[in-house]
Amino acid sequence: RRTAVVIPAAGRGVRLGPGAPKALRALSGTPMLVHAVRAMAASRAVSLVVVVAPADGVAEVKHLLDDHALPERTDYLVVAGGDTRQESVHLGLKALPDGITTVLVHDAARPLVPVDTVDSVIEAVRDGAVAVVPALPVADTVKEVEPAGTPGDPEQVVATPVRARLRAVQTPQGFDHDTLVNAHATIALAGEGATDDAGMVERLGAPVVVVPGHEEAFKVTRPLDLVLAEAVLARRRA
Ligand code: C5P
Repeated sequence: RRTAVVIPAAGRGVRLGPGAPKALRALSGTPMLVHAVRAMAASRAVSLVVVVAPADGVAEVKHLLDDHALPERTDYLVVAGGDTRQESVHLGLKALPDGITTVLVHDAARPLVPVDTVDSVIEAVRDGAVAVVPALPVADTVKEVEPAGTPGDPEQVVATPVRARLRAVQTPQGFDHDTLVNAHATIALAGEGATDDAGMVERLGAPVVVVPGHEEAFKVTRPLDLVLAEAVLARRRA
């Protein structure tokens, strides 16, 4: 029952503003990716972490992991990513050795997820779920919109899903290994895009279960998120 984590970290992070690839930007002096790797390796169940780096950044990421203290009971691998998140995860899955039964996929952009959330995802998979997502209720009312017909025209609201039934999903998402590999093979063949891995398993018709997410597992996407992340780190150190 070995557990591995794939960390897609090959995104450019354009929404964060100009600069290095998002995963390599510093949070309180340490690259976001190193925080994310530590967050995964903090779980005693995790025996391998596969980092999917920008194709031109594999050597740099290897050095980064060598230069930072990481738990020794875990193995670390760095592989080159692709043009989309889905492709990057697929390349990470291909690098897994035989014998892995549980796979987690965790965004490098969620560097501060607490270990209890990681452990509860792993536990749900070990208890028999084929796919698990950590999720939180949403604070905002969410509208579905129709893109403007003519550029410059306003978007039109077409639906308002009942807020109480909506969840914002985070990572790590956890999977039975073979289920996730199948989903990636099937969906990639169909040429469909997906913004998360559980979505691909859903399209196969397999059940996806929800466990409680955590506020501190938020995704660092925009400049304000960097401010929040540094505040969380400062609070942890206090
Ligand atoms: O862009 P988004 O915030 O959805 O990215 C989520 C995660 O996917 C990030 O950790 C990013 O580095 C990763 N990613 C990737 N390969 C891509 C695009 C995004 O590994 N081509």
